[in-house]
Amino acid sequence: MTLVKELMEAIHFACTFSFWRMGILWTFALLYSYIKLRTQNIFTRKKTTYHRSAVSPLPPMASSSTSGKTFGRRLPICIITGGTSGLGAAAALALLKEGFFVVLAGRSSHKLSKVISDIRRKNKEAHLEGFKVDLSSFSSIMKFKNSLEKWLLDSDMHQSVQLLINNAGILATTSQLTNDGHERMMGTNYIGPFSLTQVLLPLLKNSPVPSRIVNVSSFTHRNVSSFRPDQETVSGRSFSEYKNYPCAEIYEYSKLCVLLFSYELHRQLHLTDGSQPVSVMAVDPGAVKTNIMRELPWFISQAAFASLWFLGLLQSRRVGVSSTLDAALAPPETSGLYFFGGNGRTVDSSALSYNIKLSRELWATSCDIFQDSLLIYNRDSVSSEKAD
Ligand SMILES: NC(=O)c1ccc[n+]([C@@H]2O[C@H](COP(=O)([O-])OP(=O)(O)OC[C@H]3O[C@@H](n4cnc5c(N)ncnc54)[C@H](OP(=O)(O)O)[C@@H]3O)[C@@H](O)[C@H]2O)c1
Repeated sequence: MTLVKELMEAIHFACTFSFWRMGILWTFALLYSYIKLRTQNIFTRKKTTYHRSAVSPLPPMASSSTSGKTFGRRLPICIITGGTSGLGAAAALALLKEGFFVVLAGRSSHKLSKVISDIRRKNKEAHLEGFKVDLSSFSSIMKFKNSLEKWLLDSDMHQSVQLLINNAGILATTSQLTNDGHERMMGTNYIGPFSLTQVLLPLLKNSPVPSRIVNVSSFTHRNVSSFRPDQETVSGRSFSEYKNYPCAEIYEYSKLCVLLFSYELHRQLHLTDGSQPVSVMAVDPGAVKTNIMRELPWFISQAAFASLWFLGLLQSRRVGVSSTLDAALAPPETSGLYFFGGNGRTVDSSALSYNIKLSRELWATSCDIFQDSLLIYNRDSVSSEKAD
């Protein structure tokens, strides 16, 4: 019975525009990225490959000793969102080995405890902490920021963060608004990471060593030919007017926004801000078999992974996560670049993603959304304090 239901769902999905868009345009976009990667050095002499550097501990604080248990307090801190599954969990493991104190940020306490105990079973000494955060909720992001600051203070650690990896993302197949009133996919994949970055920026800027932000995008952004950066589109509400939920297009928009935001933040931090620069890198993991297609009918997701494997376009998790690690460990001068293909390689993203006017307009709209959410959060916090 369940099998028949699954099959019917798959047939129904196969009749949608999104299915064909994913099946054809996404495959071409991925192929195009690989062709670009292989041919870029023929047409340009600019450097496109960068080696990783080793991670070193923070300089000792006046109040702390450098030996024994206190050494953990000097490790650089890396926050990974969506660290409970797929590429995020793989990145967490790899960055622990590189010498980071890893903060796993996930929306499910149960999954967080499971991932943490799995890692601790293999490595008792792992410097690891879990925090709950739902990126589709502004109040959850603020609570996370407050708990993180308190934890840094209580653990006598430096009040700073060295690496933020905005990895969490979803491929939703049904239309749903978040409690903040945004479309779920735009809220989780773009507005959430934008807001989290804004609230964590003071901690990143406070780092005694160069810090960075790594934003996970996707080759699918290449399919967007135009984008209106107004509030209705950025919050995704305009898509609720569509008769059929255009899930493939919204995912592409959200990943294009991640790139426009990354490049604009890089420009602002490096060209205008004279203080300690925070690097901003973007990443495309390619196609990797994870839980990203969990909302798609089972037959469709399995067929998609099988076709990608057949075409030689499906990568292992280890290879997929290597672009994230390349971006996390590359020299600071790679800020503003797009890592793809592993081995320290970078590639140009779509022409639209480098449109400065568009990225400034998107920035302005995103800041308006952020300020509105902050106002509501502050108002609600004051009323709940009064009620107490
Ligand atoms: N896999 C690919 O082929 C591929 C290709 C290009 C780009 N990407 C991107 O790579 C990133 C990682 O995806 P993945 O492939 O590893 O998929 P995944 O296995 O589904 O992992 C996604 C992670 O995001 C978390 N997440 C989802 N919604 C969240 C929310 N509202 N708040 C906090 N966390 C949330 C999930 O938490 P739960 O475990 O609690 O659900 C999970 O840990 C995503 O940004 C994705 O778009 C993936």
